[in-house]
Parts: sequence; structure tokens; C-alpha cells
Amino acid sequence: MRNFDLVVIGAGPGGYVAAIRAAQLGLSVACVEERATLGGTCLNVGCIPSKALLSSSEHWAEVKHLAAHGISVGEAGFDLGAMMARKDKVVGDLTKGIAHLFKKNGVEWLNGRGTIPAAGQVRVGDEVVGAKNILIATGSDPAGLPGVSVDEEVILTSTGALALGRVPEHLVVIGAGVIGLELGEVWARLGAKVTVVEYLDRILPGADGEIAKTAQRLLQRQGLAFQLGRKVASVTREGARAAVTVERRDNGAVETIDADAVLVAIGRRPRTAGLGLDALGVALDGRGFIAVDGQFRTSVAGIYAIGDVVPGPMLAHKAEEDGIAAVEGIAGHAHAAPDYGLVPGVVYTAPEIASLGATEEALKEAGRPHVVGRFQFIANGRARAMGATDGLVKVLGCAESGRILGAHILGRNAGELIQELVLAMATGATLAQVAASSHAHPGMGEAVKEACLAALGKPLHA
Ligand code: FAD
Ligand code: NAI
Repeated sequence: MRNFDLVVIGAGPGGYVAAIRAAQLGLSVACVEERATLGGTCLNVGCIPSKALLSSSEHWAEVKHLAAHGISVGEAGFDLGAMMARKDKVVGDLTKGIAHLFKKNGVEWLNGRGTIPAAGQVRVGDEVVGAKNILIATGSDPAGLPGVSVDEEVILTSTGALALGRVPEHLVVIGAGVIGLELGEVWARLGAKVTVVEYLDRILPGADGEIAKTAQRLLQRQGLAFQLGRKVASVTREGARAAVTVERRDNGAVETIDADAVLVAIGRRPRTAGLGLDALGVALDGRGFIAVDGQFRTSVAGIYAIGDVVPGPMLAHKAEEDGIAAVEGIAGHAHAAPDYGLVPGVVYTAPEIASLGATEEALKEAGRPHVVGRFQFIANGRARAMGATDGLVKVLGCAESGRILGAHILGRNAGELIQELVLAMATGATLAQVAASSHAHPGMGEAVKEACLAALGKPLHA
């Protein structure tokens, strides 16, 4: 039997990063992955292909606005096949890059489905390998709607919606969360009528309410229609079409929507089945995630778990940070548990929606004395020069210490702009310290400085 110091199951951003770092720390490492390519959900059917299509469709949408810049182009058009091929190439190049990194760092890829027949062992196909430590990084799968069968042709998960060979005439998206908004926007830009049906009375639960409301307005302006406060009663396929029956939660009124594509995007579930966890006695929490302590140890000695399969934000960078912390611990290095309160979340729509830390609602509910500062991009020189005036920066600070408690940015490149505030929060910087640091002019980042000044009651350009 071959023996390894560490066997990682799953080569998503959690597992592959953990495997590489563990090898760099001197452990002998194998990584089990059943897909034909490495990179997990994120690279293959998640973060990267969605951003590739968001980018292509944004270029297409921008063509219509070039005249405002004094640019005229001839007859414009797009080729969906070429767009998809570009997306596949972006994905392919990145997944091959991980295979190269595995080779370079001496991580052995065991291609196949992994199971854990006993603590200290991992089975892949006919081979059982010895594993001093096992790291479960099996990620998540799309949550299903009871009674709704996904066929990935008409009734889709995100995976099908990233690979459609046609632009739907009417796409109904179930769930106004991150996937629903990103992929809804892709297809709306490419010409589909898009209706987003959401159970709650708002989009993006968890995001700051003011930011979500403004984002909804901006997305509506791009053609997305929202039906909020609706319960989906059924989705049935009829040939190449589907009937989506929705019920208003306030008055029970029922409506059937005709669509030729339905995207079910109501969240993701940890992937724990088929590993043998029950027999091993690996405990799950009440929501089906693998229960872990601050060092990602499960209830069974020598078995660890990270990423989407454990509690916390279901995000690639969180999975990576979990993985690094877990293997640093396994290798005997001191490493603090990641602070999920400092994990930014970004929705890559146009404009982008970036969230960090507490929302205003959460602070009010907790009765925590706080100050709020806002700055609208319409008053920012760079935003005006670029024609990217939609949105705002909103910062929330502690009324006593001035420390930053939360930040929410709606605007172009919000996902990059939020990083300054992540560092500020992580290092305990105050609103005054961020406001006092030099921000290049003209820059969208000046809006961050101005929002901090506004929170301190000293706005300059407002
Ligand atoms: P995964 O990436 O899910 O990887 C798990 C891997 O384990 C898979 O490759 C699977 O095949 C393999 N596996 C599972 N069980 C076994 C087994 N028994 N044997 C062998 N292999 C197994 N997050 C962001 O931060 N930013 C984004 O922009 C973003 N966009 C997204 C867009 C979409 C459409 C989706 C669906 C998700 C997106 N996410 C995004 C979320 C992100 O993809 C996940 O949070 C991330 O991939 C989780 O990483 P992971 O390593 O825990 O698991
Ligand atoms: P989500 O949790 O973001 O949103 C699901 C939405 O569906 C919620 O608004 C919820 O209220 C609604 N919903 C739930 N049940 C419903 C029902 N029966 N009918 C109507 N609406 C219903 O989940 P989503 O969008 O599927 O994404 C899954 C995960 O993937 C998220 O955790 C997210 O973090 C991650 N992801 C991250 C991205 C990013 O970081 N840019 C992009 C895409 C996904």
C-alpha cells in the first residue's frame, strides 16, 4: 500500500491549494479528484466560467454605449458559440495550470472517486492508500427544488446555464441570490427576457438592504424583471418549454409563467454523501455541513474538512483560507483560524456589489452604536470620466472607537475597491486612518476615503 502524510479529497480551490501548500511544507501529498480536470466547482463550472461570460456579455452590452464616447462601429453582432469556446479556453488554461502546479510541487493526483473505508485510509477505484491525515474538500452541489427535475436543457442548474447553446427567449430564474443575478444578467444582456422569482421580499438576502435595493433598481434598468415574495409551486417541462407556477406569499394569487429555460439557483448544499462518513462517525451539523473545530478537525482523529463542505461563506477564497489554515496546523505550524467576518463577498454584476462585515440592519438590530458614511459615485471624477456613475460606497464604523464594522460598495470594480477596507478591518484601522491615507486622483478609491470622511461628519465633496 502506498502511504501519504496527507490525502486531500477534492481538488477545488480549497483542496488543491491545501495540497500544494502541504507539499511545500514538506508533507507527502496525494489529491483525489474525480473530474477529468482539477479546480473544482470554481474553475470548471463556477467562478471562472461565469466571470468569462459576464465579461463577454458586458463587452456586448457596452457596444451600445460606445457612441457616447464618440466611437462608431459598423453592424455589431455576437457569436454565442465563439463566446462559449472562449469561456472553455479560459477554464481549460487555468485547470491545466493547476495540473502543472501539482507536478511542480510533487502533489500526486489520484483521478477517481475517493471514499474513506477506515480512518487512515482512502480508496480510489481499486487502490487503497494509507493516509496519516485526510482532508475532506468535496465542496457542494446545487440545492434542488422538491418535485423539480433538472435536465440541464430546459430546467437548469448554474452548470447548464453556463453552457447553453442558444439564447433563451424567456429565462425564469428561481432565486435572486448571487448565481441568479450573475447568470440572469449574462442572458439578459445577450437578449433573453429574464424574470427572477424570489421567495423573500428582497434580493440578495444577507447583503445590506440599501445596497440591495439600489442594485435591484439598476438591474431592472438593464431589463431584469423581479417577482419578489413568490413561492414556486411547480416547474414542469413541456417539450422545449417549461411552465413555472408561482404563488404570491401575501395573497396566495397563483400565476403560471411560460419559459423556454428555467434556472434553479436557490443555494448550494455540502457534498457529504458517498464518502463513508456515517460509518466512520464523522459528525455533521444540523444543516448537513461537516462539523469542525477552529483547526478544521472533524469528530474523528486524523480527518479534517474545509471549504463549502464545512460551515461559513460558500466562497472560493474562504475555501482556500480554510485549506491553508488546516494544513499549516497538520504540519505543526501555528496558524490562526480564519475570521469569516473578514471575508468579502462580491457579486460580479455591472455594477459589482461588494459586501464586508456587518450590514446596517444587523448593527441596528444588535443595538450597536455606529456611524454611517456614504459617497455616491456620481460625485467621483474618475467614475464620471469612465461613465461609471452608478452606485455608492457605504461604510459603517463603531461610534466609540471609529473602527470599521462593515463596508458595502455598489459600483464598477467594487470587488477590487473593497480590498482596502478588508485590510483596514483586519488590522483594526479606523475610519479616520483610512480617510487620512492618500488616495490617487482621479480614482474610484477616492469614494472610499470620502465615505469614511462622511461617516466622521467631515465630507469634502458632498
Ligand atoms: P469545490 O470547488 O466544489 O470542489 C470540490 C471538488 O471535489 C470537485 O471538483 C468535486 O468533483 C470533487 N469531489 C467531490 N467528492 C469527491 C469524491 N468523493 N472523490 C473525488 N472527488 C470528489 N465563489 C467565489 O468566491 N467567487 C465567485 O465568483 C464564485 N462564483 C461561483 C459561480 C457559480 C456558478 C458557482 C456554482 C459557484 C461560485 N462560487 C464562487 C462558489 C465557489 O465555486 C465555491 O465556494 C468553491 O468552489 C468551493 O470550493 P471547495 O474547494 O470547497 O469545493
Ligand atoms: P444564494 O444563497 O446566494 O441565493 C439563493 C436565493 O434563492 C436566495 O435569495 C433565497 O432566498 C432564494 N430561494 C431559496 N429557496 C427559494 C425558493 N424555493 N423559491 C424562490 N427563491 C428561493 O444561492 P445561489 O445564488 O444558488 O449561490 C450558491 C452559492 O454559490 C452562494 O453561497 C454563493 O456564495 C456562491 N456563489 C458565489 C458567487 C460569487 O462570489 N460571486 C457567484 C455565484 C455563487
